[in-house]
Amino acid sequence: MKSILDTRPTLAAEIYKVAEVAGYLWEKGWAERNGGNITINVTNEVGCGCSLPDKALAGPFEIGETLPNLKGCWFYCKGTNRRMRDLARDPMANGSVIKITDDCAHYYIVADTVVPPTSELPSHLAVHNYLIGKGSSYKACVHTHPTQLVAMSHTDAFLKKDVLTKLLWSMIPETKAYCPRGLGIVPYMLPGSKALADATIAAIDEDYDVVLWEKHGVFAIGEDVIEAFDMIDTLNKSALIYRDARAMGFIPDGMTESQMAEISKAFNLPK
Ligand code: 13P
Ligand code: ZN
Repeated sequence: MKSILDTRPTLAAEIYKVAEVAGYLWEKGWAERNGGNITINVTNEVGCGCSLPDKALAGPFEIGETLPNLKGCWFYCKGTNRRMRDLARDPMANGSVIKITDDCAHYYIVADTVVPPTSELPSHLAVHNYLIGKGSSYKACVHTHPTQLVAMSHTDAFLKKDVLTKLLWSMIPETKAYCPRGLGIVPYMLPGSKALADATIAAIDEDYDVVLWEKHGVFAIGEDVIEAFDMIDTLNKSALIYRDARAMGFIPDGMTESQMAEISKAFNLPK
């Protein structure tokens, strides 16, 4: 089948990065069945010489709220109920490109086939709306189910503000260096709900790039999908070190406060 990507290399490059990350999520065991979702803002790619077909394939569909900064924006979205392992092979059969209407409350599915977007679209689009409003250059949102981080969200002790951030930072210097804003916490809420979208934005606004959805997963933002994935991967690596130390029969000491302060200084980190 002909794809809009055939003649649009800049758009294709961003969407193939999503496919690459979808493969990693499956390989890591974080994407059981249809678990997780990814959206990227491709408005710039569509704008730069690769305009999309005028005729929509389907829509308009309601977003569920009005998101004023999204007027005329374009997004690639994983399809609801679609599997990351399938998306890795064929991103345009397991996701679609959507365009937000001028009323900022609806979208059309534009390409390649009618694949309804993820059930977490309320959170994803609300976060993109927030990022544009802030003048952020971030274009990617990744939601996934990293096993060890989700396990750690099953005890109240780890859900108090910045307890997990400090613990994970202290497991290996890279975690603070490459996930320098830490891990925000969002209490359990119904998947796909507006309440979850609002709480996710509130946590991001507290200055986190990755937030933990209690007993569910994480939601990360980044300049691109690779950067968002790398932050989750780095945090989960720390969770694995913690788990392995506990499995070896001891509680890991962790780096000291002054060792972590030294990292902040050396890498010029925000926290
Ligand atoms: P979707 O298949 O609708 O993207 O849902 C997966 C998921 O992880 C919901 O939180
Ligand atoms: Zn989920």
